[in-house]
Amino acid sequence: MSPTTLEYRFTDVEIENEAERLLAKLMHVECDSRHSWNLDTCRSIAPLTLEINALKKAKDAVILAHSYVEPEIIYGVADFSGDSYMLSMNAKEAKADRIVFSGVVFMAETAKILSPQAEVIVPDRRSGCSLADSLTGEQLRELKAAYPDAAVVCYINSTAEVKAECDVCVTSSNVYKIVAALPQKQILFVPDRLMADNIRVEMKKLGIDKEIVSSDGTCIVHDQFDPNLISESREKFPGLKVVSHPECTMDITSESDYVGSTGGMMQYVKKTEAPYFMMLTECGLVERIEVESPEKRFISGCKLCPFMKMNSLEKIRDALLEPKPDQIIELEESLRLKALRSIDRMFEMAE
Ligand code: 13P
Ligand code: SF4
Repeated sequence: MSPTTLEYRFTDVEIENEAERLLAKLMHVECDSRHSWNLDTCRSIAPLTLEINALKKAKDAVILAHSYVEPEIIYGVADFSGDSYMLSMNAKEAKADRIVFSGVVFMAETAKILSPQAEVIVPDRRSGCSLADSLTGEQLRELKAAYPDAAVVCYINSTAEVKAECDVCVTSSNVYKIVAALPQKQILFVPDRLMADNIRVEMKKLGIDKEIVSSDGTCIVHDQFDPNLISESREKFPGLKVVSHPECTMDITSESDYVGSTGGMMQYVKKTEAPYFMMLTECGLVERIEVESPEKRFISGCKLCPFMKMNSLEKIRDALLEPKPDQIIELEESLRLKALRSIDRMFEMAE
């Protein structure tokens, strides 16, 4: 018997089987700068993934993981992984007593808005988001007063307080469709100034007359990419496909072969034949595609989100064993119901 924690013990055979299960997935990960995944590194985390999977059953919990978190979370313990839209659907449909959201706080808050009966737990309360943290409900109320005729659209990367002030919420997978369908000409889109720029360009391309105004937030990961890297890389790697997220600057999106949500980017790479891809997004997404389509080749370019990287197996295990008060998402009911309206409207308009 190999000791793990006070709660659970696993046999050497169980640990070896788990290490092999993990290795079958993680052996394909090349982008991860912390580990080279081999049988030894998989053995070292196997007791923890076994314990978390046992705790999930004991505590009737599901783990939702955004594609940006570490691959040992996605392939070791997550029940669902994907982009913000898919994970919101998973949260809405979850029947479990507990949801552990391995992502960032606004995602866990969204899960609580959609599944109030569940205890929703975030592994690290400090895992914010530069977009969500850029705008308060009070600031949005001031903006609304300045643009009284505008439809108020919030990106899902926003607090519950901001969602409660909006007509409709959007994610990167449905933003263009929803903005295009709104009857108002003027759109107050918060809190991502760069995504607002991309919406403006997209509406023009579609021949739809919209006036987009925004607040001043940006994603500290996606606002960093240098467009010179695209031209230099295209010269060095003929046939290269450049893939980016709509949180990037227009200099990046206008030079990309595909722009979309993390789920959209993943699908595009899987179905596209190209000698190389450059992913102008968070590195976790590259690791996911390395595992699921190991034949694809990537050149460097991705960056790390410090907030997503606050998630770890240890924090998930501890939160499942006994969550600290600050790991449990609590929302005042009237605020939750107001925020729910904007998310429900998104579901209606996206489907
Ligand atoms: P997706 O909705 O595309 O998963 O994006 C979430 C996010 O935070 C990107 O930075
Ligand atoms: Fe927020 Fe950017 Fe991190 Fe996404 S990548 S969670 S937008 S800081």
